[in-house]
Amino acid sequence: MKPLKSVNSSYPQIHPDRIPQHVAVIMDGNGRWAKKLGHLRIFGHKQGVTAVRTCLEVASELGVKFLTMYAFSTENWNRPAIEVSALMQLLVDTVEKELPELMKNNVRLRTLGNMEQLPKNARTKLEHTETATANNTGTTLILALSYSSRWDIIQAVQAIAENVQKGLISPSEISETTISNSLRTSEYPEPDLLIRTSGEHRISNFLLWEIAYSELYFTPVLWPDFTKQHFVEAILDYQSRERRFGKTSEQIGEEKK
Ligand code: IPE
Ligand code: IPE
Ligand code: MG
Repeated sequence: MKPLKSVNSSYPQIHPDRIPQHVAVIMDGNGRWAKKLGHLRIFGHKQGVTAVRTCLEVASELGVKFLTMYAFSTENWNRPAIEVSALMQLLVDTVEKELPELMKNNVRLRTLGNMEQLPKNARTKLEHTETATANNTGTTLILALSYSSRWDIIQAVQAIAENVQKGLISPSEISETTISNSLRTSEYPEPDLLIRTSGEHRISNFLLWEIAYSELYFTPVLWPDFTKQHFVEAILDYQSRERRFGKTSEQIGEEKK
């Protein structure tokens, strides 16, 4: 993995001072990609793993600290059983195979979602990889699996309600911080940039609370076709934007001085 100072030489157009801290990706289009080539949908998922690897590599090189990848949603459990089990098998195989590479690249793996719904062997492999990479200090790869934002919000509301019931907090004390801290994403900064591939312009139940002020980037590229250059294009687009957080452009200009 190249150190951050090489960003300028490897990616001369990218401004090293404006690298997003957290990039979230809705990896979409595997099925359509496979169908276009006359293959089964699972072939697209397999090819999609290569794009995850590529994305992680460039994110690490650029010094992106957190990369959240939406790999399987709560709603994806409703897909045909054969696709779901093939996806789970692919997950198990990949997590096992990638561990040496994650170690070599100093990547820390975390999961986000309702892990209890995953098959036991997938959970065990994921836990093992999470533990093995826990002390790595490079990019944190957060795999959103069996995840939906509404699921997370429900569990957060339940935890807060319990604390109200116990008298630990009063309803009027519930703030943005209370809610943010009760989500499973509480230890990560909110995404600066959200990328969705495959030409769909929707969020599909991903990080609804957390993306309140994220920059959104949609590309027609199908996920298995997503390359380093596409990731760089997304970062460049992000760097061209002015994040105002409700303020005026003039105020932002003043703050920069
Ligand atoms: C994204 O690709 C991967 C998952 C949701 C698991 P899709 O499988 O949704 O591919 P399309 O959208 O049908 O092309
Ligand atoms: C979103 O993709 C979920 C993941 C990428 C894991 P979907 O393909 O499931 O989303 P919809 O159904 O098109 O909204
Ligand atoms: Mg899809």
